[in-house]
Amino acid sequence: MKKVVFVVLTFMMSVGLLSAQQARIKIDVDRTIGEIDPNLYGNFVEHLGRCVYGGIYEPGSSLSDENGFRKDVMQAVKDLKVPLTRYPGGNFVSNYHWLDAVGPERVPRMDYAWQRLETNKFGTNEFVTWAKKVGTEPYFAVNLGTGTIEEAQWWVEYCNADGGSYYSELRKKHGYPEPHNIKYWGLGNEMDGPWQMGHLNAEDYVKKAREAAKLMKMVSPDIKLIAAGSSHYSREANPDYWNRTILEGLGEQIDYIALHMYVGNLNDNYYNFISTPMVMDSRTQVVRGMIYEQVQRMSRPKPIYIAWDEYNVWYRARTGKDAVGERALEEHYNLEDALVVAGFLNVFVRNADIVKMANMAQLVNVIAPIFTSEQGMFLQTIYYPLQLFANHMKGTSLDVLVDCETYNTQQFDNGMNERSSQQSNVPYLDVSAAVDGDEITICVVNRHKDKAISTDVLCQEGSFNGSFEVYEVNGPDIKSMNDFGKTLVETKKKSDIKAKADKFTYSFAPHSFTMIKGKVKK
Ligand code: AHR
Repeated sequence: MKKVVFVVLTFMMSVGLLSAQQARIKIDVDRTIGEIDPNLYGNFVEHLGRCVYGGIYEPGSSLSDENGFRKDVMQAVKDLKVPLTRYPGGNFVSNYHWLDAVGPERVPRMDYAWQRLETNKFGTNEFVTWAKKVGTEPYFAVNLGTGTIEEAQWWVEYCNADGGSYYSELRKKHGYPEPHNIKYWGLGNEMDGPWQMGHLNAEDYVKKAREAAKLMKMVSPDIKLIAAGSSHYSREANPDYWNRTILEGLGEQIDYIALHMYVGNLNDNYYNFISTPMVMDSRTQVVRGMIYEQVQRMSRPKPIYIAWDEYNVWYRARTGKDAVGERALEEHYNLEDALVVAGFLNVFVRNADIVKMANMAQLVNVIAPIFTSEQGMFLQTIYYPLQLFANHMKGTSLDVLVDCETYNTQQFDNGMNERSSQQSNVPYLDVSAAVDGDEITICVVNRHKDKAISTDVLCQEGSFNGSFEVYEVNGPDIKSMNDFGKTLVETKKKSDIKAKADKFTYSFAPHSFTMIKGKVKK
């Protein structure tokens, strides 16, 4: 008899009918963290592989419009509600001369970052035209590798000056009478990386970036500047030294410090991989502390924010032939990758007071949520969590109490020689929440591979009001992928939850991302 009860209980637990511990999420709309900047849901277009050519731009294709922009891709970008798009690189930018890609005469160049011929047929004006059509704000990065500070200044003049000066008149001659008014400018890309053309040490980068910033702001004083923070986390790289040095040296000039992070599942260890957003969280806290230190030392303190302006899962298409040429970085994503991306987005929201920008790398074909062929396109798994966040997760971020079971993982090691940090006691539920007027939105990744987690969601202030909508990103198993004509992982709307005044109970499906949305009455 005892044995039968044990077997039944074990079975019920395994299918989530009975959990060892009822999980709890406490929502208190008075415990706020900060305003969620819409730019957390930004993206990135680099001249790399088929991101531009064959991705957003394919003149002559029956799928393209009169400008040569792929209409199907534009629709997918609009549905993704991309507020801000970084351009034109990435490593590409450190060997990019913007003048090669404006006006009637385009200069073809070898792109040595990704070993391909760059025709420069698509450049500043094409990107700005495309950005207007899809409703995204351009964020340009200047070349501080092989480029000069004067070239950076001229680019700002070409884009932002009204007229009279040589480069603003050149823009007019090229058919753009009105300034483009580009507000966001990055001071180089990954200047800490030895792979970067024109890589500098921290002190030399500070000197060059400070002078570039000065020249750029002389043309356009209101622009926002983003310094290239750490992208390189190996022990030799010493990212803390890099970040501290540039915050000290550039604090007066910059508005953001950019951080980059890619993760992967090279060792096929699901529980380790799914916890990697915690590493991003801890890196955020380290840089947050450095920013506080810097800002309180300033004679005229002003905010400096973190921009996670490259992040994603990237480990398959990373070496050899997959990393260069016309089809570089064509990563094919599965469900576990989408859950990691949802985890990253939760990190941004939970740190909404200091993280004010984030850019998924990248938008189309190249480690991307949108994947094209000459005949059509499909949406990769990672599209769906980003789309849900961008469309719904706004307002003020909340400090949420989460009480659930935890697990231990091996040391974090993404197989790319990055610094390891012990990850233990990882909560199965990864949660963020936001309030916007009387609306609350709760985002939950259930990291458990096999078990649904029954959870009481408790309202600490006011009361839940009416029914709650539920959206779930999930698929048959963690390795499920989408492809042309095959959608295994997507967002599904589930039945509404009827909430009582101060509580509802929801069972989060195994390996899922769930967004719950409803109203609170104060
Ligand atoms: O996004 C791909 C590449 O990753 C970018 O060009 C570079 O900045 C980073 O190393």
